[in-house]
Amino acid sequence: MEEKKKVIFSGIQPSGNLTLGNYLGALKNWVKLQDEDKYECYFCVVDLHAITVRQEPKDLRRRTLEVLAIYLAAGIDPEKTTLFIQSHVSTHSEAAWLLNCFTYIGEASRMTQFKDKSKRYGESVSVGLLDYPILMAADILLYNADLVPVGKDQTQHLELARDIAQRFNNLYSPTFTLPEGYIPEEGAKIMDLQEPTKKMSKSADNPNSYILIMDPPEVIRKKINRCVTDSIGVVNYTDEQPGIKNLITILGAISGLKPDEIVEKYKGKGYAEFKKDAADAIVGELEPIQQKVQKFLSDKEYLESIYKAGAQKAYYVSNKVLRKMQKKIGFIPRA
Ligand code: TYM
Repeated sequence: MEEKKKVIFSGIQPSGNLTLGNYLGALKNWVKLQDEDKYECYFCVVDLHAITVRQEPKDLRRRTLEVLAIYLAAGIDPEKTTLFIQSHVSTHSEAAWLLNCFTYIGEASRMTQFKDKSKRYGESVSVGLLDYPILMAADILLYNADLVPVGKDQTQHLELARDIAQRFNNLYSPTFTLPEGYIPEEGAKIMDLQEPTKKMSKSADNPNSYILIMDPPEVIRKKINRCVTDSIGVVNYTDEQPGIKNLITILGAISGLKPDEIVEKYKGKGYAEFKKDAADAIVGELEPIQQKVQKFLSDKEYLESIYKAGAQKAYYVSNKVLRKMQKKIGFIPRA
C-alpha cells in the first residue's frame, strides 16, 4: 500500500514587495521540497494576514496576484501543488475564531513580532495584529500539516500553533497533527543590507536595506555595492563582520557552497570582487524568475484558473477538519 504523503503548508503575505529574504528563507525551499515528490504541498498567498496593517486596496490586489505569479515563476508547479489565495477559503477565518477561544491572551501578547510591531503603533495597534499567529495556526492545522517551511522569524509562531493544537487535542481527542518547522540551513535569516544586525524586511523605510525579488539587475548591483561592510578587509564568516557574514549567507544559499568554502575562495581577495560575485549570483538567480513573473502577470485568465482550482481543493480538505473541530466543540452539525 502506498504510504500517506506528509503534508506541507506555507504562505507569504502580500503586504509589501517580496524580498530576497522571502525568497531564500521560504520560497526557494518550497520548490526544493515540492520537487522531492514525497510531500503533499499547499502554498498560500496570505492576504488575510496582510490587512493586520493598513493596505491600499488596489495595491493589495496587484500584489496578491504578483505574489502568486512569483510562486509560479520560482518553480511552484500547480500540477503537483495546491496554490491558493487565503481569503478565498473561508474555513481559515472560521477556524481562526474557534482557535482564538483556545489561546491565552498572555501567549499571544508574548509574541516578539507583536511586541515589536505594537511598539510602532502604540494604542492604535489592531487586534488583528495580536490575532495574526492564531490565524496562522488555523492555516497550518486545517491541513494537518506535518512540515512548515519558513524562515527563522516564524519559529515562535509555529510553537504557538503546536501549543494550541496540543491543547485542543488534550481537551477533546486527537484532532490535529503537531506541525514541525522546516528551517533552511542557509538563508533562514537574511539580514538588512544597511543594518546587518536586523532582519531584511519588506517594510524597512530605506530601499537600500533590502533587495526585492523584482528589483532590476542594475538596482541589485547598486544595492550590493552600497551595502554596509566593515574596515577589516578580509572575507570572514563571523559575528564581528555582520555585513560580510550576510553576503556569505546569501551567496551560500544561492550557490549551495558552505560558508567556509566561500571564505576559502576569497582568501586574499578584496570586498570589491566578493561583492561583484555576490551581485552576479543574485542577478543570475532572480533575472529568469522576473521574466517569468511578467509572463504570468500578462495572463490573468491563467492565474485565475490556478487560484480557482486551488481554492476548491483547499476548501474541500480544510472543511473536513473544520467540521471535526465544530463537532468536538459541541456545535449542532448542519442538517
Ligand atoms: P512573511 O510574509 O513575513 O514572510 C514569508 C516567509 O519569508 C520568510 N522571511 C525570511 N527568511 C529569511 N530571511 C528574512 N529576512 C526573511 N523575511 C521573511 C519568513 O520566515 C516566512 O517564511 N506569518 C507568516 C505567513 C504565514 C504562514 C502561514 C507561514 C501565514 N500563515 C502558515 C507558514 C504557515 C508571515 O508573515 O510571513
